[in-house]
Amino acid sequence: MRPHCCKRETKTRAQHAPPRWSVVMDLAEGTKCSPDGLSEEMSIEHDGTVTGQGGQDTNEGTPQSSGARCKRAVGMALVVLGMVTAWGSGTTIVTGATGGMGSAIVSHIMRRSDLAETQTGIYTVRKPSSAPALRKALQSAPSSHKHEVAALDLSSMERVRAFAKDINERVTSGAIPPIRALILNAGYQDHKEINMTSDGYETTWQVNYLANFLLALLLLQSIDKKEGRILIVGSWTHDVDDARNKSGGQDPYSAPLWNSLFPDLDDLARGRWSTPQDDPSWLSGFRRYGASKLCVVILQQELARRVARDPDLSHIAVMGLDPGAMSSDLLRRGSFFFTWFLAWFVLPVAGALSVHLNPNGPMRTTWKSAGDAVRACFDIDSPAGQPLYLNGTDEFEVAKDAQDETKRRKLWEYSLQAGGIREGDTVLEDWK
Ligand SMILES: NC(=O)c1ccc[n+]([C@@H]2O[C@H](COP(=O)([O-])OP(=O)(O)OC[C@H]3O[C@@H](n4cnc5c(N)ncnc54)[C@H](OP(=O)(O)O)[C@@H]3O)[C@@H](O)[C@H]2O)c1
Repeated sequence: MRPHCCKRETKTRAQHAPPRWSVVMDLAEGTKCSPDGLSEEMSIEHDGTVTGQGGQDTNEGTPQSSGARCKRAVGMALVVLGMVTAWGSGTTIVTGATGGMGSAIVSHIMRRSDLAETQTGIYTVRKPSSAPALRKALQSAPSSHKHEVAALDLSSMERVRAFAKDINERVTSGAIPPIRALILNAGYQDHKEINMTSDGYETTWQVNYLANFLLALLLLQSIDKKEGRILIVGSWTHDVDDARNKSGGQDPYSAPLWNSLFPDLDDLARGRWSTPQDDPSWLSGFRRYGASKLCVVILQQELARRVARDPDLSHIAVMGLDPGAMSSDLLRRGSFFFTWFLAWFVLPVAGALSVHLNPNGPMRTTWKSAGDAVRACFDIDSPAGQPLYLNGTDEFEVAKDAQDETKRRKLWEYSLQAGGIREGDTVLEDWK
Protein backbone atom coordinates (compact mmCIF):
# COMPACT_ATOMS: atom_id res chain seq x y z
CA MET A 1 0.00 0.00 0.00
CA ARG A 2 1.41 3.38 -0.95
CA PRO A 3 0.65 6.09 1.57
CA HIS A 4 -0.71 9.28 0.15
CA CYS A 5 -0.35 12.27 2.37
CA CYS A 6 -2.42 15.42 2.29
CA LYS A 7 -3.55 18.11 4.66
CA ARG A 8 -7.20 18.32 5.55
CA GLU A 9 -9.24 19.05 8.63
CA THR A 10 -11.61 16.13 8.90
CA LYS A 11 -11.23 12.46 9.71
CA THR A 12 -9.02 9.97 7.93
CA ARG A 13 -10.31 8.24 4.82
CA ALA A 14 -9.05 5.96 2.05
CA GLN A 15 -8.68 7.01 -1.53
CA HIS A 16 -7.91 5.17 -4.74
CA ALA A 17 -4.66 6.00 -6.47
CA PRO A 18 -4.08 3.70 -9.44
CA PRO A 19 -2.52 1.28 -9.81
CA ARG A 20 -2.46 0.59 -6.07
CA TRP A 21 -4.59 1.63 -3.16
CA SER A 22 -3.50 4.55 -1.12
CA VAL A 23 -4.45 5.97 2.19
CA VAL A 24 -5.34 9.63 2.35
CA MET A 25 -4.84 10.88 5.86
CA ASP A 26 -6.88 13.94 6.62
CA LEU A 27 -4.70 15.71 9.11
CA ALA A 28 -5.32 18.46 11.54
CA GLU A 29 -3.96 21.98 11.25
CA GLY A 30 -0.32 22.06 12.23
CA THR A 31 0.44 18.52 11.11
CA LYS A 32 3.30 18.25 8.67
CA CYS A 33 3.30 15.38 6.29
CA SER A 34 6.07 14.83 3.81
CA PRO A 35 6.45 14.29 0.99
CA ASP A 36 3.07 15.57 -0.24
CA GLY A 37 1.40 13.19 -2.68
CA LEU A 38 2.11 9.55 -3.47
CA SER A 39 5.13 8.07 -1.82
CA GLU A 40 6.53 4.77 -0.59
CA GLU A 41 7.97 6.55 2.46
CA MET A 42 6.03 9.00 4.56
CA SER A 43 6.76 10.99 7.66
CA ILE A 44 4.16 12.72 9.80
CA GLU A 45 5.01 15.44 12.29
CA HIS A 46 2.91 17.67 14.45
CA ASP A 47 3.79 21.02 16.02
CA GLY A 48 1.66 20.36 19.08
CA THR A 49 -0.51 23.45 18.75
CA VAL A 50 -3.54 22.08 17.02
CA THR A 51 -7.12 21.83 18.04
CA GLY A 52 -10.01 20.74 15.84
CA GLN A 53 -11.71 17.53 14.83
CA GLY A 54 -9.07 15.66 12.87
CA GLY A 55 -6.16 16.12 15.25
CA GLN A 56 -7.96 16.82 18.47
CA ASP A 57 -6.47 15.06 21.46
CA THR A 58 -9.29 13.90 23.67
CA ASN A 59 -6.94 12.96 26.52
CA GLU A 60 -5.82 15.63 28.86
CA GLY A 61 -2.13 16.37 28.56
CA THR A 62 0.46 18.95 27.98
CA PRO A 63 0.87 20.67 24.60
CA GLN A 64 4.42 19.24 24.49
CA SER A 65 3.23 15.60 24.58
CA SER A 66 0.37 15.98 22.12
CA GLY A 67 2.75 15.98 19.14
CA ALA A 68 4.11 12.59 20.08
CA ARG A 69 0.66 11.23 20.83
CA CYS A 70 -0.66 12.55 17.55
CA LYS A 71 2.18 10.84 15.72
CA ARG A 72 1.43 7.56 17.51
CA ALA A 73 -2.31 7.91 16.87
CA VAL A 74 -1.76 8.64 13.21
CA GLY A 75 0.53 5.63 12.96
CA MET A 76 -2.04 3.40 14.61
CA ALA A 77 -4.79 4.83 12.42
CA LEU A 78 -2.71 3.98 9.38
CA VAL A 79 -2.28 0.39 10.52
CA VAL A 80 -5.96 0.00 11.39
CA LEU A 81 -7.03 1.71 8.19
CA GLY A 82 -4.70 -0.51 6.22
CA MET A 83 -6.25 -3.57 7.82
CA VAL A 84 -9.79 -2.31 7.33
CA THR A 85 -9.19 -1.36 3.71
CA ALA A 86 -7.51 -4.67 3.00
CA TRP A 87 -9.56 -7.07 5.08
CA GLY A 88 -12.88 -5.47 5.88
CA SER A 89 -14.49 -6.83 2.77
CA GLY A 90 -13.84 -8.73 -0.43
CA THR A 91 -12.60 -8.36 -3.95
CA THR A 92 -14.98 -8.62 -6.87
CA ILE A 93 -13.51 -9.34 -10.29
CA VAL A 94 -15.66 -8.81 -13.38
CA THR A 95 -14.24 -9.79 -16.78
CA GLY A 96 -15.49 -8.07 -19.94
CA ALA A 97 -16.47 -5.17 -17.72
CA THR A 98 -17.06 -2.69 -20.51
CA GLY A 99 -19.45 -4.96 -22.39
CA GLY A 100 -23.24 -4.71 -22.26
CA MET A 101 -23.78 -7.01 -19.32
CA GLY A 102 -20.37 -6.39 -17.72
CA SER A 103 -20.86 -2.64 -17.43
CA ALA A 104 -24.41 -3.23 -16.15
CA ILE A 105 -22.98 -5.52 -13.43
CA VAL A 106 -20.65 -2.69 -12.39
CA SER A 107 -23.61 -0.25 -12.36
CA HIS A 108 -25.56 -2.61 -10.11
CA ILE A 109 -22.62 -2.77 -7.70
CA MET A 110 -22.39 1.05 -7.70
CA ARG A 111 -26.08 1.32 -6.85
CA ARG A 112 -25.73 -0.86 -3.78
CA SER A 113 -23.83 0.81 -1.02
CA ASP A 114 -23.49 -2.54 0.81
CA LEU A 115 -21.41 -3.73 -2.14
CA ALA A 116 -19.80 -0.53 -3.42
CA GLU A 117 -18.44 0.24 0.02
CA THR A 118 -17.24 -3.23 0.89
CA GLN A 119 -16.05 -4.67 -2.38
CA THR A 120 -12.73 -3.84 -4.00
CA GLY A 121 -13.66 -3.89 -7.68
CA ILE A 122 -11.21 -5.19 -10.25
CA TYR A 123 -12.86 -4.58 -13.57
CA THR A 124 -11.04 -6.17 -16.47
CA VAL A 125 -11.17 -4.97 -20.05
CA ARG A 126 -9.05 -5.54 -23.12
CA LYS A 127 -8.00 -1.92 -23.41
CA PRO A 128 -8.33 0.26 -20.32
CA SER A 129 -7.82 3.37 -22.50
CA SER A 130 -11.05 2.64 -24.40
CA ALA A 131 -13.67 1.29 -22.07
CA PRO A 132 -16.46 3.87 -22.43
CA ALA A 133 -19.35 1.88 -20.94
CA LEU A 134 -17.28 0.96 -17.88
CA ARG A 135 -16.12 4.57 -17.39
CA LYS A 136 -19.74 5.66 -17.56
CA ALA A 137 -20.80 3.05 -15.02
CA LEU A 138 -18.00 4.19 -12.71
CA GLN A 139 -19.13 7.81 -12.86
CA SER A 140 -21.72 6.94 -10.24
CA ALA A 141 -19.17 5.22 -8.00
CA PRO A 142 -19.25 6.50 -4.45
CA SER A 143 -15.91 7.99 -3.39
CA SER A 144 -15.56 5.10 -0.94
CA HIS A 145 -15.59 2.50 -3.71
CA LYS A 146 -12.11 1.07 -4.16
CA HIS A 147 -11.60 -0.12 -7.68
CA GLU A 148 -9.30 -0.37 -10.62
CA VAL A 149 -9.66 -0.98 -14.33
CA ALA A 150 -7.25 -3.77 -15.26
CA ALA A 151 -6.07 -4.87 -18.69
CA LEU A 152 -6.82 -8.49 -19.45
CA ASP A 153 -6.96 -10.01 -22.92
CA LEU A 154 -8.44 -13.45 -22.55
CA SER A 155 -7.17 -14.55 -25.96
CA SER A 156 -3.66 -14.84 -24.52
CA MET A 157 -2.79 -17.50 -21.96
CA GLU A 158 0.34 -15.58 -21.03
CA ARG A 159 -1.75 -12.55 -20.09
CA VAL A 160 -4.25 -14.63 -18.17
CA ARG A 161 -1.40 -16.17 -16.19
CA ALA A 162 0.22 -12.77 -15.56
CA PHE A 163 -3.09 -11.32 -14.35
CA ALA A 164 -3.73 -14.27 -12.02
CA LYS A 165 -0.18 -14.06 -10.65
CA ASP A 166 -0.60 -10.37 -9.86
CA ILE A 167 -3.94 -10.94 -8.11
CA ASN A 168 -2.59 -13.92 -6.15
CA GLU A 169 0.43 -11.94 -4.99
CA ARG A 170 -1.70 -9.02 -3.88
CA VAL A 171 -4.17 -11.21 -2.01
CA THR A 172 -1.28 -13.07 -0.34
CA SER A 173 0.39 -9.83 0.73
CA GLY A 174 -2.88 -8.38 2.03
CA ALA A 175 -2.88 -5.51 -0.48
CA ILE A 176 -6.36 -6.58 -1.57
CA PRO A 177 -8.89 -8.79 0.22
CA PRO A 178 -9.65 -12.37 -0.88
CA ILE A 179 -11.94 -12.72 -3.86
CA ARG A 180 -15.56 -12.76 -2.81
CA ALA A 181 -16.92 -12.91 -6.37
CA LEU A 182 -15.18 -13.90 -9.58
CA ILE A 183 -17.62 -13.05 -12.36
CA LEU A 184 -16.48 -14.68 -15.61
CA ASN A 185 -18.63 -12.59 -17.91
CA ALA A 186 -16.52 -11.78 -21.00
CA GLY A 187 -17.69 -13.42 -24.20
CA TYR A 188 -16.86 -13.55 -27.89
CA GLN A 189 -18.93 -14.55 -30.91
CA ASP A 190 -18.06 -14.38 -34.60
CA HIS A 191 -20.59 -15.29 -37.25
CA LYS A 192 -18.35 -14.33 -40.14
CA GLU A 193 -14.95 -15.88 -39.89
CA ILE A 194 -12.58 -18.03 -37.84
CA ASN A 195 -9.77 -16.28 -36.00
CA MET A 196 -6.95 -18.10 -34.28
CA THR A 197 -5.16 -16.83 -31.18
CA SER A 198 -1.40 -16.60 -30.79
CA ASP A 199 -1.69 -19.75 -28.63
CA GLY A 200 -3.03 -21.63 -31.65
CA TYR A 201 -6.65 -22.02 -30.55
CA GLU A 202 -9.88 -20.84 -32.12
CA THR A 203 -10.69 -17.48 -30.52
CA THR A 204 -14.28 -18.30 -29.51
CA TRP A 205 -13.13 -21.43 -27.72
CA GLN A 206 -10.15 -19.83 -26.01
CA VAL A 207 -11.87 -16.62 -24.88
CA ASN A 208 -15.18 -18.18 -23.82
CA TYR A 209 -13.79 -21.35 -22.35
CA LEU A 210 -10.07 -22.04 -21.99
CA ALA A 211 -9.29 -18.63 -20.47
CA ASN A 212 -12.01 -19.16 -17.87
CA PHE A 213 -10.75 -22.65 -17.07
CA LEU A 214 -7.26 -21.27 -16.54
CA LEU A 215 -8.37 -18.20 -14.61
CA ALA A 216 -10.60 -20.18 -12.27
CA LEU A 217 -7.93 -22.79 -11.49
CA LEU A 218 -5.14 -20.25 -10.99
CA LEU A 219 -7.22 -17.89 -8.86
CA LEU A 220 -8.72 -20.56 -6.58
CA GLN A 221 -5.99 -19.88 -4.00
CA SER A 222 -7.21 -16.28 -3.66
CA ILE A 223 -10.92 -17.01 -3.38
CA ASP A 224 -12.56 -16.41 -0.04
CA LYS A 225 -12.71 -19.89 1.51
CA LYS A 226 -15.91 -19.21 3.43
CA GLU A 227 -18.08 -17.16 1.10
CA GLY A 228 -16.32 -17.03 -2.25
CA ARG A 229 -18.27 -17.50 -5.44
CA ILE A 230 -17.33 -18.09 -9.02
CA LEU A 231 -20.05 -17.17 -11.48
CA ILE A 232 -19.70 -18.41 -15.04
CA VAL A 233 -21.94 -16.88 -17.70
CA GLY A 234 -23.43 -19.59 -19.93
CA SER A 235 -26.05 -19.49 -22.65
CA TRP A 236 -28.98 -21.56 -23.90
CA THR A 237 -26.91 -22.20 -27.04
CA HIS A 238 -24.96 -24.82 -25.06
CA ASP A 239 -27.84 -27.26 -25.30
CA VAL A 240 -28.82 -28.73 -28.69
CA ASP A 241 -32.20 -29.68 -27.21
CA ASP A 242 -33.11 -26.17 -26.04
CA ALA A 243 -36.04 -24.94 -28.14
CA ARG A 244 -34.86 -21.32 -27.81
CA ASN A 245 -32.11 -22.11 -30.33
CA LYS A 246 -34.78 -21.95 -33.02
CA SER A 247 -35.82 -18.40 -32.16
CA GLY A 248 -33.64 -17.01 -35.00
CA GLY A 249 -36.00 -18.70 -37.45
CA GLN A 250 -33.63 -21.62 -38.18
CA ASP A 251 -32.47 -24.60 -36.18
CA PRO A 252 -28.66 -24.48 -36.06
CA TYR A 253 -28.38 -28.01 -34.67
CA SER A 254 -30.98 -29.96 -36.67
CA ALA A 255 -28.70 -31.40 -39.37
CA PRO A 256 -27.18 -34.79 -38.34
CA LEU A 257 -23.68 -33.38 -38.81
CA TRP A 258 -24.31 -30.67 -36.24
CA ASN A 259 -26.58 -32.28 -33.69
CA SER A 260 -23.77 -32.65 -31.14
CA LEU A 261 -21.81 -29.79 -29.62
CA PHE A 262 -19.23 -32.21 -28.24
CA PRO A 263 -17.15 -33.12 -31.30
CA ASP A 264 -13.50 -34.17 -31.30
CA LEU A 265 -12.08 -31.69 -28.81
CA ASP A 266 -8.93 -30.96 -30.74
CA ASP A 267 -10.96 -30.19 -33.89
CA LEU A 268 -13.13 -27.81 -31.87
CA ALA A 269 -10.24 -26.12 -30.07
CA ARG A 270 -8.07 -25.81 -33.20
CA GLY A 271 -10.81 -24.31 -35.37
CA ARG A 272 -11.42 -27.33 -37.59
CA TRP A 273 -15.05 -27.81 -36.57
CA SER A 274 -18.03 -25.89 -38.04
CA THR A 275 -15.88 -23.70 -40.22
CA PRO A 276 -17.15 -21.22 -42.84
CA GLN A 277 -15.97 -23.79 -45.41
CA ASP A 278 -18.26 -26.40 -43.83
CA ASP A 279 -21.16 -23.97 -43.82
CA PRO A 280 -20.81 -20.43 -45.21
CA SER A 281 -23.92 -19.19 -43.34
CA TRP A 282 -23.90 -17.47 -39.94
CA LEU A 283 -24.84 -20.81 -38.39
CA SER A 284 -21.23 -22.06 -38.44
CA GLY A 285 -20.12 -19.30 -36.05
CA PHE A 286 -23.25 -19.73 -33.95
CA ARG A 287 -22.40 -23.43 -33.49
CA ARG A 288 -18.80 -22.70 -32.50
CA TYR A 289 -20.16 -20.27 -29.92
CA GLY A 290 -22.67 -22.90 -28.70
CA ALA A 291 -19.92 -25.52 -28.42
CA SER A 292 -17.71 -23.10 -26.45
CA LYS A 293 -20.64 -22.43 -24.11
CA LEU A 294 -21.17 -26.16 -23.64
CA CYS A 295 -17.54 -26.33 -22.52
CA VAL A 296 -18.21 -23.40 -20.15
CA VAL A 297 -21.23 -25.14 -18.63
CA ILE A 298 -19.28 -28.40 -18.32
CA LEU A 299 -16.54 -26.42 -16.55
CA GLN A 300 -19.09 -24.98 -14.12
CA GLN A 301 -20.56 -28.40 -13.39
CA GLU A 302 -17.20 -30.17 -13.05
CA LEU A 303 -15.42 -27.46 -11.06
CA ALA A 304 -18.37 -27.15 -8.66
CA ARG A 305 -18.11 -30.88 -7.93
CA ARG A 306 -14.33 -30.91 -7.52
CA VAL A 307 -14.37 -27.85 -5.26
CA ALA A 308 -17.15 -29.35 -3.14
CA ARG A 309 -14.99 -32.44 -2.49
CA ASP A 310 -11.93 -30.38 -1.59
CA PRO A 311 -11.29 -30.16 2.18
CA ASP A 312 -10.14 -26.52 1.97
CA LEU A 313 -12.39 -25.19 -0.78
CA SER A 314 -15.70 -26.90 -0.11
CA HIS A 315 -17.51 -23.69 0.88
CA ILE A 316 -16.77 -21.98 -2.42
CA ALA A 317 -19.76 -22.04 -4.77
CA VAL A 318 -19.26 -22.36 -8.52
CA MET A 319 -22.43 -21.21 -10.24
CA GLY A 320 -23.65 -20.74 -13.80
CA LEU A 321 -26.04 -18.20 -15.29
CA ASP A 322 -27.98 -18.15 -18.55
CA PRO A 323 -28.68 -14.44 -19.14
CA GLY A 324 -31.14 -14.95 -22.02
CA ALA A 325 -30.87 -12.94 -25.25
CA MET A 326 -29.89 -9.31 -24.64
CA SER A 327 -29.14 -6.32 -26.80
CA SER A 328 -25.36 -5.90 -26.56
CA ASP A 329 -22.22 -5.80 -28.68
CA LEU A 330 -21.91 -9.58 -28.74
CA LEU A 331 -23.40 -9.80 -32.24
CA ARG A 332 -21.11 -7.13 -33.69
CA ARG A 333 -19.18 -9.71 -35.71
CA GLY A 334 -22.27 -10.77 -37.58
CA SER A 335 -24.42 -9.87 -40.53
CA PHE A 336 -26.34 -6.63 -40.92
CA PHE A 337 -29.43 -8.52 -39.79
CA PHE A 338 -27.85 -9.62 -36.52
CA THR A 339 -25.86 -6.53 -35.72
CA TRP A 340 -28.32 -3.82 -36.54
CA PHE A 341 -31.75 -5.30 -36.84
CA LEU A 342 -31.68 -7.91 -34.09
CA ALA A 343 -29.18 -6.48 -31.59
CA TRP A 344 -30.05 -2.80 -31.93
CA PHE A 345 -33.69 -2.80 -32.94
CA VAL A 346 -35.58 -5.94 -31.96
CA LEU A 347 -33.84 -6.93 -28.72
CA PRO A 348 -33.89 -3.54 -26.95
CA VAL A 349 -37.64 -3.19 -27.41
CA ALA A 350 -38.58 -6.84 -27.00
CA GLY A 351 -36.19 -7.31 -24.07
CA ALA A 352 -37.53 -4.29 -22.19
CA LEU A 353 -41.12 -5.43 -22.65
CA SER A 354 -40.39 -9.05 -21.96
CA VAL A 355 -38.68 -8.59 -18.59
CA HIS A 356 -41.93 -7.12 -17.26
CA LEU A 357 -44.17 -9.80 -18.67
CA ASN A 358 -41.89 -12.82 -18.39
CA PRO A 359 -38.75 -11.92 -16.42
CA ASN A 360 -36.86 -15.13 -17.17
CA GLY A 361 -38.23 -15.43 -20.70
CA PRO A 362 -35.96 -15.70 -23.74
CA MET A 363 -35.46 -11.96 -24.23
CA ARG A 364 -34.04 -9.79 -21.47
CA THR A 365 -32.16 -6.59 -20.91
CA THR A 366 -28.52 -6.42 -19.84
CA TRP A 367 -29.76 -4.61 -16.73
CA LYS A 368 -32.01 -7.49 -15.69
CA SER A 369 -29.34 -10.15 -16.35
CA ALA A 370 -26.64 -8.13 -14.62
CA GLY A 371 -28.95 -7.90 -11.59
CA ASP A 372 -29.32 -11.69 -11.72
CA ALA A 373 -25.52 -12.06 -11.74
CA VAL A 374 -25.14 -9.80 -8.72
CA ARG A 375 -27.97 -11.62 -6.94
CA ALA A 376 -26.33 -14.99 -7.59
CA CYS A 377 -23.04 -13.78 -6.13
CA PHE A 378 -24.25 -11.84 -3.12
CA ASP A 379 -27.89 -12.45 -2.26
CA ILE A 380 -28.85 -16.09 -2.46
CA ASP A 381 -27.80 -18.88 -0.13
CA SER A 382 -24.60 -20.57 -1.08
CA PRO A 383 -25.48 -23.91 -2.64
CA ALA A 384 -22.35 -25.63 -1.33
CA GLY A 385 -21.70 -28.92 -3.03
CA GLN A 386 -24.44 -28.39 -5.58
CA PRO A 387 -23.57 -27.19 -9.08
CA LEU A 388 -26.30 -24.56 -9.34
CA TYR A 389 -27.07 -23.27 -12.83
CA LEU A 390 -29.60 -20.47 -13.11
CA ASN A 391 -31.75 -19.27 -15.96
CA GLY A 392 -32.12 -15.69 -14.74
CA THR A 393 -33.43 -16.34 -11.24
CA ASP A 394 -34.76 -19.86 -11.88
CA GLU A 395 -32.84 -23.02 -11.20
CA PHE A 396 -32.28 -24.72 -14.55
CA GLU A 397 -31.21 -28.12 -15.80
CA VAL A 398 -28.08 -28.06 -17.94
CA ALA A 399 -27.69 -30.00 -21.20
CA LYS A 400 -27.36 -33.78 -21.06
CA ASP A 401 -23.80 -33.44 -22.37
CA ALA A 402 -22.87 -31.39 -19.31
CA GLN A 403 -24.33 -34.05 -17.02
CA ASP A 404 -22.28 -36.75 -18.71
CA GLU A 405 -19.39 -37.64 -16.41
CA THR A 406 -17.30 -39.16 -19.19
CA LYS A 407 -17.55 -36.01 -21.30
CA ARG A 408 -16.77 -33.82 -18.33
CA ARG A 409 -13.62 -35.82 -17.58
CA LYS A 410 -12.57 -35.85 -21.23
CA LEU A 411 -12.86 -32.07 -21.50
CA TRP A 412 -11.09 -31.55 -18.19
CA GLU A 413 -8.12 -33.66 -19.24
CA TYR A 414 -7.91 -31.99 -22.64
CA SER A 415 -8.05 -28.55 -21.01
CA LEU A 416 -5.28 -29.34 -18.51
CA GLN A 417 -3.03 -30.08 -21.44
CA ALA A 418 -4.29 -27.18 -23.62
CA GLY A 419 -3.91 -24.72 -20.74
CA GLY A 420 -0.49 -26.09 -19.74
CA ILE A 421 -1.60 -26.67 -16.14
CA ARG A 422 1.21 -28.13 -14.07
CA GLU A 423 1.64 -29.31 -10.48
CA GLY A 424 1.55 -26.26 -8.21
CA ASP A 425 -0.50 -24.08 -10.58
CA THR A 426 -3.70 -24.60 -8.62
CA VAL A 427 -4.59 -25.29 -5.01
CA LEU A 428 -7.39 -27.62 -6.09
CA GLU A 429 -6.52 -30.97 -4.53
CA ASP A 430 -8.21 -33.08 -7.20
CA TRP A 431 -6.89 -31.12 -10.17
CA LYS A 432 -5.85 -33.93 -12.51
N1 LIG B 1 -26.04 -10.86 -25.53
C1 LIG B 1 -26.66 -12.04 -25.51
O1 LIG B 1 -27.73 -12.21 -26.12
C2 LIG B 1 -26.08 -13.18 -24.71
C3 LIG B 1 -26.81 -14.37 -24.64
C4 LIG B 1 -26.30 -15.42 -23.88
C5 LIG B 1 -25.11 -15.28 -23.22
N2 LIG B 1 -24.41 -14.11 -23.34
C6 LIG B 1 -23.13 -14.01 -22.62
O2 LIG B 1 -23.17 -12.90 -21.76
C7 LIG B 1 -21.84 -12.43 -21.51
C8 LIG B 1 -21.77 -10.94 -21.72
O3 LIG B 1 -21.94 -10.66 -23.11
P1 LIG B 1 -22.61 -9.31 -23.64
O4 LIG B 1 -23.92 -9.70 -24.21
O5 LIG B 1 -22.54 -8.26 -22.61
O6 LIG B 1 -21.65 -9.00 -24.87
P2 LIG B 1 -20.65 -7.78 -25.13
O7 LIG B 1 -21.36 -6.49 -24.98
O8 LIG B 1 -20.01 -8.07 -26.44
O9 LIG B 1 -19.59 -7.94 -23.94
C9 LIG B 1 -18.63 -8.95 -23.98
C10 LIG B 1 -17.37 -8.46 -23.34
O10 LIG B 1 -16.38 -9.47 -23.48
C11 LIG B 1 -15.17 -8.83 -23.83
N3 LIG B 1 -14.24 -9.64 -24.59
C12 LIG B 1 -14.36 -10.16 -25.82
N4 LIG B 1 -13.22 -10.72 -26.20
C13 LIG B 1 -12.35 -10.56 -25.19
C14 LIG B 1 -11.00 -10.90 -24.97
N5 LIG B 1 -10.27 -11.52 -25.91
N6 LIG B 1 -10.42 -10.56 -23.81
C15 LIG B 1 -11.09 -9.91 -22.86
N7 LIG B 1 -12.38 -9.54 -23.01
C16 LIG B 1 -12.99 -9.87 -24.15
C17 LIG B 1 -15.59 -7.67 -24.71
O11 LIG B 1 -14.54 -6.73 -24.72
P3 LIG B 1 -14.37 -5.73 -25.97
O12 LIG B 1 -15.46 -4.74 -25.79
O13 LIG B 1 -13.00 -5.19 -25.78
O14 LIG B 1 -14.52 -6.56 -27.20
C18 LIG B 1 -16.83 -7.19 -24.00
O15 LIG B 1 -16.51 -6.27 -23.00
C19 LIG B 1 -20.95 -13.24 -22.47
O16 LIG B 1 -20.37 -14.31 -21.78
C20 LIG B 1 -21.93 -13.77 -23.49
O17 LIG B 1 -21.45 -14.93 -24.13
C21 LIG B 1 -24.86 -13.06 -24.04
